[in-house]
Parts: sequence; C-alpha cells; structure tokens
Amino acid sequence: MNTIARSEPSADADAAAPKDTTLIYRQSRWTRLTHWLWAISLFFMLLSGLQIFNARPQLYIGKESGFEYNNTVFAIGAENTATGPRGYTEIFGHRFDTTGVLGWSGPAGRETSRAFPSWATIPSYYDLGTARVVHFFFAWILTTTLVVWLIASLINGHLRRDLAPRLGDLKRLPQDIIDHAKLRFHHTREYNTLQKMAYGGVLFVLLPLMIITGLAMSPSMNAVLPWLNDLLGGRQTARTIHFTVMVLLIGFFIIHMLMILAASPINELRSIITGWYRTDPPAHGDTERSN
Ligand code: HEM
Repeated sequence: MNTIARSEPSADADAAAPKDTTLIYRQSRWTRLTHWLWAISLFFMLLSGLQIFNARPQLYIGKESGFEYNNTVFAIGAENTATGPRGYTEIFGHRFDTTGVLGWSGPAGRETSRAFPSWATIPSYYDLGTARVVHFFFAWILTTTLVVWLIASLINGHLRRDLAPRLGDLKRLPQDIIDHAKLRFHHTREYNTLQKMAYGGVLFVLLPLMIITGLAMSPSMNAVLPWLNDLLGGRQTARTIHFTVMVLLIGFFIIHMLMILAASPINELRSIITGWYRTDPPAHGDTERSN
C-alpha cells in the first residue's frame, strides 16, 4: 500500500508551517542540530588530524613501531632523485609518485617535505600542539553530539521510524541499487534502503569506531582501560584503524554530497536546515509506515 507521511508538523516544528501539503516535516530539530554539529566537528577533526599525522607520517600494524620492525602498511615521504626531491606515498609496499600533493609540496620554488600539504591541515604551518588541542576539543563535541543524537532519536522515535532496518528494506535493496545507479530518486518521508545502510554505517559503526580507536591511543585511557588497546590489536593497529575510518568517512562524505546534488539539492538542504521536505506523489513500491 502506498502512503506519503503525514504533513502536520510535530511539536517542535518551526514556527511558520508551509501551506503546501506535499511539504512534510521530516527532520526534527535534534536531527538537524546534531547533523550540523558533527559535520563541523568532523571538518576540524579531519584537518587537525592530518597535521597530527604529519608528525609521524607512517602507519603500522601491531603494538610497536621502529627500525627493527617490518610492519609499515602506509607511508608518505620525500626522497632525493636525479631530477630533484620527489614526494611519494607507499601503500603495502607499492610506491606512488605524489609530488605536489603528498610528501613534497608548497608554492613553486619554496616546496618542503611534509606529508599532507599546508592547505589540508590545521594549522597550515607545522604545530603539533595546536593541532592536538583542536582535535581533542572537537572530539569531545563529536562524542557528546553522538550521545545526544542517540538519546533524542530513541525518545522522538527517529531511530525506530527512520533508521531501523525492516524486512521490506532487504526486498527493496536490488531496486534501490538500480534506482541509484540510474540517478532516479523518489522523494518520500522514509529513507531508502541504501540511505539507511549508509547513515546506520556512519552512526553505529564508523563514528563509534573512530571514538574507540581514538580513546585507545590516549595514554591516560590506557591506564584506565588497558584491555582496550589489546582488543584492537595494539596501539599502532588502533592508529591505522583510526586513519582508515577517516578515509571511509571522506568516501561517505563525497557520495553523500553527490547524492544530494543528484536527488534535488534545494529540497534536501531545506530538510536538513529547516526540517521541511517536499515529497513526490506516491509511487509503486512506497510502503506503509509501520509505526
Ligand atoms: C562529515 C560530514 C557529514 C556527515 C558525517 C553527514 C552524515 C549524515 C547522516 C548520518 C545523516 C542522517 C542523519 C539522521 O537521519 O539522523 C545525514 C543526513 C543528511 N545530510 Fe549529512 N553529513 C555530513 C555533511 C553534510 C553536508 C555538508 C550537507 C549539505 C551540504 C549534508 C546534507 C544532508 C542532508 C540533506 C541529509 C538528509 C538526507 C535525507 O533526508 O535524505 N550533510 N547526514
């Protein structure tokens, strides 16, 4: 059976409810507030994190690192060649020339050896202390935001109504993949299966893993929860997982932006800023909400 979700505003709807019946109140103020808080936090955490990485631009697997170990899985560096200094990135022993971006970068004639370029780090110049202060400040904002999102979403039903997987989601998955591949979007009150998977993956897997691996790297946390480090395979493995999650979040962000642009950017942006979303007329395949 087909339905479009109710169009009446909920208790916390913004003051002036639009008259148009196809506009529905889709995102609560808690969803919107927490969304923008974690978007801002992740922006600062990414750029300050890259600065922290620059202090030791290698990743290892295991508990320890050093010359006597052969456990490097990723490295960014610079080397002298016959044609001058070159930047490189090494992944599992495979070396790529990344001069100009990774390893060796800067304004023409004033290039320096640094893993991530100055435009990608906070601060832009080398300052590990400031980067750590920025990183930890936003890490606590992100963690608090995630907890607030979870509590609010449990109370206002967002989690159960919009994100909890249902049997129907699995059945719809193949059609959803085809629709996304053809950039054919049907705007309904509900998240589609791929959205549920992507948002659920970020909120329940990537962000918690980011926080846990971050805590595992903190010496004071090692004193309180010494088993956490071992559980993750050692401090260096925790750092490698932390970095990998960062790469996955960037991947999510790029796809998130592309999907918003393809789906109808004004409508999508309005919903995550004001809460109001314009739905399409019901189409075959829309499901009755089960709440
Ligand atoms: C690192 C940055 C970001 C992350 C991790 C992120 C993650 C998410 C997640 C998890 C949701 C689902 C939230 C929920 O249902 O509770 C969401 C929804 C949404 N986000 Fe983002 N987001 C980011 C940045 C942005 C930016 C920069 C924009 C806009 C330019 C944006 C636009 C939206 C929109 C429009 C929705 C609602 C999608 C829909 O209702 O179909 N996001 N985002």
